[in-house]
Amino acid sequence: MITVKDLKPHPLDQVHRLIEPGPVILVTTRHHGIPNVMTNGFNMMVRHAPPLIACTIGPWDHSYQALVETGECVISVPTADMAATVVDIGNCSGADVDKFRSST
Ligand SMILES: Cc1cc2nc3c(=O)[nH]c(=O)nc-3n(C[C@H](O)[C@H](O)[C@H](O)COP(=O)(O)O)c2cc1C
Repeated sequence: MITVKDLKPHPLDQVHRLIEPGPVILVTTRHHGIPNVMTNGFNMMVRHAPPLIACTIGPWDHSYQALVETGECVISVPTADMAATVVDIGNCSGADVDKFRSST
């Protein structure tokens, strides 16, 4: 049996590490014929069949307008050895660089 005494406080700025164990994903879009990709950590499965994934994507992201206009994207789950690339992809914008060609 669990009691209130068993509960332990946790720093608010660290709670996401406990309840957000899913993968960081890559969201690829195409806008006016130009492909782009962004890193997304705020995501979760919300239905099994057919599968539905919820993602929080800021309207300030270049990907946002592509998603609104096309309603389409490709979701990829990167492997652990891609971590540095995944962070790089999430620290620049397709409004400024071609992320499929850029090596930085
Ligand atoms: C690890 C990581 C996770 C991220 N998760 C999100 C997210 O869930 N939602 C979001 O809007 N931006 C997220 N970002 C930031 C976007 O990936 C970043 O703004 C990106 O440059 C947007 O690309 P775009 O302007 O080409 O669409 C994340 C970045 C990193 C590095």
